[in-house]
Amino acid sequence: MERPKKGEQGMSYYDEVKDMLSRLENNVSKHIRSLFLPLRTGAQGIQVSGLTNTYGEADSDSSDSSDTPSSDRDDESGDTIITITDLTKVFGSRPSSAIEMLENGSSKREVLDETGSVVGLKNVNLEVHEGEIFVVMGLSGSGKSTLLRCLNRLVEPTQGSIVINGIEIRDLDDKGLREFRRAQLGMVFQNFGLLPHRTILDNVAFGLEVRGMSEEERHAKAQEMIDIVGLKGYESVLPDKLSGGMKQRVGLARALANDPTILLMDEAFSALDPLIRRSMQDELIELHSKLKKTIVFVSHDLDEALRLGDRIAIMKDGEIVQVGTAEDILSNPANDYVASFLNGIDRSKVMTCETLMRRPAVVVTQRTGPRTALKMLDDSDRSVGFLLDRNRRFIGLFKAESLPKAIEESKSLTDIVNTTIRTVMPDTKVEDLITILVETDYPIPVLNDERRLMGVIHPNSVMDKVRPDESITYEDVIE
Ligand SMILES: Nc1ncnc2c1ncn2[C@@H]1O[C@H](COP(=O)(O)OP(=O)(O)O)[C@@H](O)[C@H]1O
Ligand SMILES: [Mg+2]
Repeated sequence: MERPKKGEQGMSYYDEVKDMLSRLENNVSKHIRSLFLPLRTGAQGIQVSGLTNTYGEADSDSSDSSDTPSSDRDDESGDTIITITDLTKVFGSRPSSAIEMLENGSSKREVLDETGSVVGLKNVNLEVHEGEIFVVMGLSGSGKSTLLRCLNRLVEPTQGSIVINGIEIRDLDDKGLREFRRAQLGMVFQNFGLLPHRTILDNVAFGLEVRGMSEEERHAKAQEMIDIVGLKGYESVLPDKLSGGMKQRVGLARALANDPTILLMDEAFSALDPLIRRSMQDELIELHSKLKKTIVFVSHDLDEALRLGDRIAIMKDGEIVQVGTAEDILSNPANDYVASFLNGIDRSKVMTCETLMRRPAVVVTQRTGPRTALKMLDDSDRSVGFLLDRNRRFIGLFKAESLPKAIEESKSLTDIVNTTIRTVMPDTKVEDLITILVETDYPIPVLNDERRLMGVIHPNSVMDKVRPDESITYEDVIE
């Protein structure tokens, strides 16, 4: 990231501001989120819509609701494609007594000691939305693979329901299950699972061959997938000639060749070295935006989860402990287990301005005169107000100190408004906000893509909240 062009002192202030901001996120994001953001909470996939609004004029005529945008992120992913209800999996010969113990509140450990059965999943409830990358994350042994494998019944659930695309998959007989898997599901494994004596082309075409597709047809389809994953030229090579990253591309191409609705990926990149892994993650994101498949991706790695997941479910001991977007989880970890995953993450790379913004106190339109504006600023004890046009699009900001002169010279707010100020978008990363903050001395307006004022980020209050016990002010920081 570009740093502000300042001297030595400025650079250290930069780090200080960054440090303060990251602490601020911890301290106030919870509060601000509850005021401004649609909130997803809890393991049950409950959605609570918070208040999201654009700000109209401060004089209370903002009764028209035409400028109320719909809740944001929920629009990005589609309908529910997978619904998991009360899903439990017990490995062992006496599941019924294990289940009884679970229902009476026994832990995984107690069930194991008493019955010898291993609880793989305990009362899991989840919804996966069409078109999203849904990451299941947790420590080794937490039940991620078991959950994923229940989706294609490589593992048979003990209890509960799994509905995929309207079909209760637990009701399918063997033939129905085979057909369902073929039509709907593609799977990518950590250890690639390639057939060693088949060329790349025939590995990719394998599923199509099993389906009885003609050689010409399946090779054409396989070639298309090989091109998509960037392996053009390797068609006739055997798998052992390929690097790990390339092998996993083959695995991906093979899963995609069937044109599944849902791609199941179990630690698909975990065996790759970090750089290759990173570029595979990037490519998966790109591929996802092109192909628009629903992806359920299992990972034990938080960085990977944050990079890939539209939403993330965190598992512990066979249970879901939290579901949400990366930002939900970072700003509001459900418990210490979740929080322990978050140590060491640079939050400024994930958190956005939407989390930090507050409601602006004084917002007026061009109809408002400077006298009224000054009174409003005085009443709310603010030094800066925001001017909107009649369509409530953001024009600029005006300072209280410039109003007396405007009144004297009979000027309007439009004459004195400052329109050349830095603004941010709700999804601007805090990391990018920091560079703007150190260069400005006014509240930063947060505008949506229609230039409507969604909120402001006020550096002074930011600093006060981060360091209430110290006398350092924002002015100290930017001087
Ligand atoms: N086939 C099996 N038989 C007995 N226990 C199993 C089996 N598969 C998984 N488990 C147990 O279920 C729990 C969850 O395992 P798994 O889903 O593989 O975890 P993860 O993928 O998160 O590492 C673990 O305690 C594991 O030992
Ligand atoms: Mg696993």
